[in-house]
Amino acid sequence: MTPLLEADTLIRSYRLPRRTLLGGPPIRQAVREVSLRLPEGARLGIVGESGSGKSTLLRLLLALDRPDSGTIRFRGRPVRGRDLLWFRREVQVVLQDPATALNPHRTIRDSLAEPLECLRIPEEHDARIAEILTAVGLEPEAAHRYPHQFSGGQRQRIAIARALAPRPTLLVVDEPFSALDTAVRGHIIDLVRDLLTHNGLSLILVSHDLGVVQQLCDQLLVLRDGVAVEQGPARTVLDNPQHPYTESLLRAVPSLP
Ligand SMILES: Nc1ncnc2c1ncn2[C@@H]1O[C@H](COP(=O)(O)OP(=O)(O)OP(=O)(O)O)[C@@H](O)[C@H]1O
Ligand SMILES: [Mg+2]
Repeated sequence: MTPLLEADTLIRSYRLPRRTLLGGPPIRQAVREVSLRLPEGARLGIVGESGSGKSTLLRLLLALDRPDSGTIRFRGRPVRGRDLLWFRREVQVVLQDPATALNPHRTIRDSLAEPLECLRIPEEHDARIAEILTAVGLEPEAAHRYPHQFSGGQRQRIAIARALAPRPTLLVVDEPFSALDTAVRGHIIDLVRDLLTHNGLSLILVSHDLGVVQQLCDQLLVLRDGVAVEQGPARTVLDNPQHPYTESLLRAVPSLP
């Protein structure tokens, strides 16, 4: 069956500032020949230490950045070129910091309506906003307030609502829980798990925290220096790590179920 998302030998390097007068600028390969397949409904966790290339890989997968080489397909269709509206309708993203994800000068209603308008979603927007705010555990009245009137955990719920409002099929999240305290994080993780199940969503989750990944993901990709050193069903990778780096990540998790 055609996978939902498929990436084939992605490479992305950055030129660093020149250090010597002679010779070209040094090149940093942030993502080196990474391939992956995400079947519909699958939940992929991408883990790796800081600087291993997780966010770079996500930007490529989201078509927010172009690879030097390699291809990305969504439902078999190449993700490239200018007209990506079809792709943007299917894939939504939640980023790390809920404080910067929402415009402080706009009401929650306006922030949530924006993707619906940009993506030309043919649905009554205010009704959809009320519905999705309820789904993330907030009152529909929250729409009339501003981001600073909410706690960090509530703002993260709003950021999740904003991503889910256009009814994506794939949700991509980059370290979405790290700014939250432990209790709130637990609630948000439960919420995301429920929403994934109820909406039949696929997930790509980037995290430092293997514990979080274990709770949400069934597939795992371990990145080290831009290389996918380990990849496969989460249980297989975690029960039988092939790479010493994965073992060291596992040791860093406080308690394994
Ligand atoms: N715009 C850029 N210009 C130059 N180098 C970059 C740029 N973006 C990332 N890099 C480099 O590419 C490598 C991978 O960075 P990336 O942000 O993807 O890592 P990460 O795994 O997301 O790290 P973190 O966990 O800290 O968010 C790093 O060495 C980083 O310094
Ligand atoms: Mg990052």
